[in-house]
Amino acid sequence: MLQIKNIVKKFGFFTAVNGINVHINQGELYGFLGPNGAGKTTTIKMIAGIYAPTSGSISINGIDISKNPVKAKLQIGYVPDQPYLYDKLTGREFLYFSGGLYNLDKKTIQNKIDELVDILKIESWLDKRTEEYSQGMRQRITIASALLHDPKLIVLDEPMVGLDPQSAVLVKKILNQKVSEGASVFVSTHSLSFAEEICSRIGIIKAGVMIYEDKREAIETIKANLNSNFEEVFLELTK
Ligand SMILES: Nc1ncnc2c1ncn2[C@@H]1O[C@H](COP(=O)(O)OP(=O)(O)O)[C@@H](O)[C@H]1O
Ligand SMILES: [Mg+2]
Repeated sequence: MLQIKNIVKKFGFFTAVNGINVHINQGELYGFLGPNGAGKTTTIKMIAGIYAPTSGSISINGIDISKNPVKAKLQIGYVPDQPYLYDKLTGREFLYFSGGLYNLDKKTIQNKIDELVDILKIESWLDKRTEEYSQGMRQRITIASALLHDPKLIVLDEPMVGLDPQSAVLVKKILNQKVSEGASVFVSTHSLSFAEEICSRIGIIKAGVMIYEDKREAIETIKANLNSNFEEVFLELTK
């Protein structure tokens, strides 16, 4: 579903991402971990087609994002680290606007809004302007807007930052649900407990290089061997 082949991203002389490879199959929930400045956001922006890689290639559902950007982007639902909402629009208006960008017709958007509003519990806020929203509600609307077109790949950049517990539970729930429906998820996170809880596989990046990648169960083995928790393993790997 997602094939990242040896991508490199340079900003001037600085190499932010230095030869990352990731392959994600359908139905996988892939956690992308790493300390601040490791290159997570830069990698995600390349997957989302916002940055062009300096070298290497990325394909989504077999479509190369550099060669066929519009078609590739239709396969993706992207939740950026700093989601942008229009303050003066209501949540519903924003969702119609977002659905329009994907050329969805009104009826389809309406049906999707009904479904997503129910799962994400946004009904009582839907007709209020987004300037009134809490961080958690902003995140829920952003996620809803990224799922309107039923993307095959959902890409989220640190979606759990600043979330209240209710929103955090709902975000986990919807990701699990989408995966069970056959979508794939690529999610960057600082939260080790989140990765342990919901990811089927994790990769750890440090200074632009993947230093560890394995199935979640492997973490259990490492923890048992080191007689420590995932946090200590992570700190050890990324120090
Ligand atoms: N547009 C940019 N120009 C120059 N350097 C950048 C730019 N974006 C990110 N960087 C640098 O690339 C590195 C990786 O950043 P980033 O991908 O945001 O890391 P992370 O998301 O893992 O915290 C950092 O050292 C950051 O300062
Ligand atoms: Mg980041």
